[in-house]
Amino acid sequence: MTTPHLQQASSYQLAFTCLTPKFGVTLSGTRQLVDFDDGEIDALIQLAAERGVLVMRDQHMSAQQQADFAHRLGTPLLSPANKGKLPDELLLIQANERSKHAAGTGWHSDVSSAIKPPGLSMLRMEVVPESGGDTLFADMRQVFAALSPTLQAFLQTLHARHDPRGHYLYLSGAKRLDELPSAQHPVVRSHPLTGDRALYVNDGFVGKIVELDRAESKALLSLLYDKVAYSVSCQCRVQWQPNTVVFWDNRIVQHHAAFDYWPATRRGYRVTIEGEEPVLV
Ligand code: SIN
Repeated sequence: MTTPHLQQASSYQLAFTCLTPKFGVTLSGTRQLVDFDDGEIDALIQLAAERGVLVMRDQHMSAQQQADFAHRLGTPLLSPANKGKLPDELLLIQANERSKHAAGTGWHSDVSSAIKPPGLSMLRMEVVPESGGDTLFADMRQVFAALSPTLQAFLQTLHARHDPRGHYLYLSGAKRLDELPSAQHPVVRSHPLTGDRALYVNDGFVGKIVELDRAESKALLSLLYDKVAYSVSCQCRVQWQPNTVVFWDNRIVQHHAAFDYWPATRRGYRVTIEGEEPVLV
């Protein structure tokens, strides 16, 4: 049996084991997120910036505690359509025997059509199917680094228009498309904490690459999306258990929820934290 490889996150003591050598970790121990002090929160944010995906098992918290925790991470996006049934900070992620599809299928980065698209997302799962319902994650830094230097250089000159067709408020029927903003972002962005460069186009939101004509844009995006989907060595996969919490940093990560468990029920709650205007430096 392999001994878990333990490391420490940056300046603070967060021990973890690696999901893959460069991408994704599981935090060790049974410490509860709701008991984290400010130093641990900072270390968690830094570790997400460095490793992309953080998995924590056996996390017990109520919906209101998750909403309160969201404010410790930054400014949460709101879901006014919850109408008091859930705190506005929470987005219900649910599929069951009545579902024809599930949220989050298809590779995407959360709400990239926002002017300041999300940094961290935090998904807490309460009900999981007996098997299936995994979430796949792809490291957009490694995907970018795997491209030829010539294509990397070209991509760094481009911008993409992100439209809200994948926005949770549009998909839930709470808003019309014309009530939600579109935004133009660089095709390659730098992470504000690490400086790492990552590919920042995703099939869930991007309409077109601004500097190219429609056919060129379609061909280039298709090449890049294939690279995301097929680069299995740039990916990790999380199998959920009840009370698993996963954080991912949308600046450098895309994800894809597998909907392979119908008619079983899968239910969780996401909080999504506003980021900053993406830049390439
Ligand atoms: C999402 O946030 O896109 C949903 C992810 C999931 O259900 O695993």
